Amino acid sequence: MTLQIRTLDEYRAVYERSVRDPEGFWAEQAATFRWHKPWRRVLEWNFREPRVKWFIGGRLNITENCLDRHLETRPDQVALLWEPNDPKRKVRRITYRQLYGLVCQLANALKAQGVRKGDRVCLYMPMVPELAIAVLACARIGAVHSVVFAGFSAVALADRIKDAQAKVVITADANARGPKNIAVKTVVDEALSMGCSSVERVIVLRNTGDEVPMTAGRDLWWHDAVRGKRKTCKATVVDSEHMLFILYTSGSTGKPKGVVHTHGGYMVYTEFTFRNVFQYQPGDIYWCTADIGWITGHSYIVYGPLLAGATTLMFEGIPTYPDPGRFWEVVQRHKVNIFYTAPTAIRALMAAGDEWVKGRRLTSLRVLGTVGEPINEEAWRWYYERVGKKRCPIVDTWWQTETGGILISPLASITPLKPCYATLPLPGVQPCLVDANGNELEGPNVEGMLCLKFPWPSILRTTFGDHERCRLNYFAAFPDKYFTGDGARRDDNGMYRIIGRVDDVINVSGHRIGTAEVEDAINKAPNVVESAVVGYPHPIKGQGIYAYVITSGPVGDLSAFRQAVLDTVTREIGPIAKPDKIQVVPGLPKTRSGKIMRRILRKIAEGDTSNLGDTTTLLNPEVVDEIKSGALV
Ligand code: PRX
Repeated sequence: MTLQIRTLDEYRAVYERSVRDPEGFWAEQAATFRWHKPWRRVLEWNFREPRVKWFIGGRLNITENCLDRHLETRPDQVALLWEPNDPKRKVRRITYRQLYGLVCQLANALKAQGVRKGDRVCLYMPMVPELAIAVLACARIGAVHSVVFAGFSAVALADRIKDAQAKVVITADANARGPKNIAVKTVVDEALSMGCSSVERVIVLRNTGDEVPMTAGRDLWWHDAVRGKRKTCKATVVDSEHMLFILYTSGSTGKPKGVVHTHGGYMVYTEFTFRNVFQYQPGDIYWCTADIGWITGHSYIVYGPLLAGATTLMFEGIPTYPDPGRFWEVVQRHKVNIFYTAPTAIRALMAAGDEWVKGRRLTSLRVLGTVGEPINEEAWRWYYERVGKKRCPIVDTWWQTETGGILISPLASITPLKPCYATLPLPGVQPCLVDANGNELEGPNVEGMLCLKFPWPSILRTTFGDHERCRLNYFAAFPDKYFTGDGARRDDNGMYRIIGRVDDVINVSGHRIGTAEVEDAINKAPNVVESAVVGYPHPIKGQGIYAYVITSGPVGDLSAFRQAVLDTVTREIGPIAKPDKIQVVPGLPKTRSGKIMRRILRKIAEGDTSNLGDTTTLLNPEVVDEIKSGALV
């Protein structure tokens, strides 16, 4: 097990050491894992190409550290504790020994279907144990998983399958989400009709039992695929830098990009941060409410907790089904000790009223966490007082898909808390703030763009199939720095507060959505000529999506037009990207070079039209007043 920090002084000493001697520090952490061959060099890096490699020459398989090494010490401990969507259905408890067997069996089945080291496997699945099993089975044989959140549409799924050139897709008949079943197999069929020529096989889990069409020669039931397969499977030993997974995420331009993480560094960093941030203790029941379709689920439902030998709870459903007391009921039932969720869920449950929390016995809770978006003070206080009863520290964890693991966060009960602050960098993390010219802002009480000066083991390695895009997105804005896309401030005590994105990315309910993607989708709706999308403050979602749309002629029935736009966005991306507000406008404010002035559109969407700045330099200043007068605020 990696080092677990126990006191504030120790944190300070370890942090100082990790900056003075990062290679020595991380080598010590890495040495606590099972390797087939030790590394020759700890780190090689430059942020110009960029090129980052950790534990060079080392050979391992991450799943041996998630599974095999626990067989000696905790074979009968529950690894995966599964809470179904329908509270009347049976809870599933899968021990480390059982999980090992199930992962190996599917790994053998995948091999039998022709999946080889380096092949990509796309997972489009419900939050059932088989999703975690499929993730680990891919890793077991050196294949690369690409999990796609099952709320994405067929078009979005097809884009990701094509970009990753996936050979196999694993899905289910349907997903149980709240009162509905969502027919995910049908979505896969539709996606595959859009020219995903790399796909040879679709493996279908029987989950809800709903009827699904199977395509002969291509589709195979999961239970048929694993039938008769052995429950042991030698792990494919890979290089530290062998690709572990691709996960697509939105940026400010173009289509989502496939962030790439690798076996060695990701393993060391997720285990270390899981145990330190949450101060995990053996025997704890740990629950992260994210979906495995996002990075939080990868790092802190599957890999981090299993590497640490924890019991990780996986929840199939949604926070409000059958009622807004569901989270607290699950905490009570399973005696959850560590609970990790998103501010949007906290705000929604807070809005549902205190009565849902009041009657529950939440005394098992010791640590609370949040992730995904800035948490406002009211929500922080409610979480701290009503859920944690002022006993439990809140770890406000700041990180990104690209960072693989938590970078800035309190260590529970060890480092100080400050509402709305992610607080201090973890060991090995060297943040800095820069101004628009790239000058580093020194000292306390400064605000700027958040960058990292030095690599940590789970920094992204590339964006799949397009390294130049990786360079341009993260390493080109400021020389020799990784740029996060976030703005932040640093207080007198060196604590960081994340303010939010400074690029054209919107954070809706903790989901990252690129404005360009939404605009592309809206532009496909009937009668739409052009559109511009911005975020605006939303009481529950954090940010809502405001769309300004130019049409080719009079729209007639406005509500039918809006519905057509919503349907188009749902078809192109998925319901999470649906605009909250759609305003038909005669034009968009543009600079003389034809660039849309989003600053003005953001202000109007926020309802703050008092000071729009100088609009006289616009190509079409008259349009601003027209937009203002029709604004939906
Ligand atoms: O803007 C930051 C916000 O979420 C972005 C990363 O999104 P994603 O890659 O989807 O990963 C989300 C889960 C790690 C960041 O650039 N963000 C994430 N955590 C926080 C946050 N903003 C404020 N406070 C946080 N704790």
